Amino acid sequence: QLADLELDSLRLEVAEGLLTVSVHRPEVLNALSPLVIAELREVFSLLRGRIGRSGDGAADDAPDWSIRGVILTGSGERSFVAGADISVMRDQSRDEAAAYAADAQELTAWIETLPVPVVAAVNGFALGGGCELAMACDYILASESASFGQPEVALGLIPGFGGCVRLQQYVGIAAARELILTGRRIDAQEARELGLALRVLPDAAALLDAARESLRASAAQSPTAVAAAKRTVRAAQALPTDRGLEIERQAFADRFGTPDMLEGTAAFVEKRRPSFPGA
Ligand code: CAA
Repeated sequence: QLADLELDSLRLEVAEGLLTVSVHRPEVLNALSPLVIAELREVFSLLRGRIGRSGDGAADDAPDWSIRGVILTGSGERSFVAGADISVMRDQSRDEAAAYAADAQELTAWIETLPVPVVAAVNGFALGGGCELAMACDYILASESASFGQPEVALGLIPGFGGCVRLQQYVGIAAARELILTGRRIDAQEARELGLALRVLPDAAALLDAARESLRASAAQSPTAVAAAKRTVRAAQALPTDRGLEIERQAFADRFGTPDMLEGTAAFVEKRRPSFPGA
């Protein structure tokens, strides 16, 4: 149960079937210590146990669809997540750093394969590991005051929680190179122009409203179709066109005859609202 988790550096809130996870370490602009990563892993591991780990609810035993979307954000107005915790990293050995990055990268994979959408609501600094955590979400919404960057080279480091891989998927190789090689910080508008942030909202309240509205729109649809669509988009992302189309074709055909597909198509023909069984 989410309510039973004892969490030091996260705040959880469930409303209308949407879970909001806020990183809460105000004294360090919500920097990601190993404890924050461990707690985020606890939350997403619990969600995987409930909703499914295959990235497709249909393949899991009786997925629990009571949570239909997740918002990942930072508490307070100043920061989403200002990166990995530099004062911890400073004293880490190579082995400890490898384990830290492995845990964080596995967390990002859990976010990407969670069968429900996860939206990053970036309300301030999303730097280093913060930008990397946001990029693991399905899409990023930003407030006007948000800023993004991969400033690791200023620390003698490089991105280690997925930035070298995912930033180029969002913004293309040239912009990714420039941002990673210079460590340059960009504001919300530039992040939107580059395709990193999908929309920019005037303030933190509007940002959370927009994230909820977007997740509510998904929650009104067939949960198994949303899960299959999320999984297929991700699977196709890194593939050559032919192979991606093959995976899409198979996933499309797999929808046929499912209770959700039968209900959705019947409701359309009968001109009524669908009531999806979630199977
Ligand atoms: N780790 C640890 N502490 C951090 C932190 C971080 N990533 N970011 C901010 N803090 C701490 C500061 O040390 C400061 O603590 P004190 O009050 O005890 O001095 C407090 O948060 C407030 O920060 P600032 O006083 O620096 O606030 P500012 O408004 O002047 O600057 C900032 C804000 C530009 C975000 C600046 O804090 C900063 O540059 N932070 C580091 C950002 C960064 O380099 N992130 C990448 C980390 S490496 C990484 O993430 C590797 C990876 O890929 C996984």
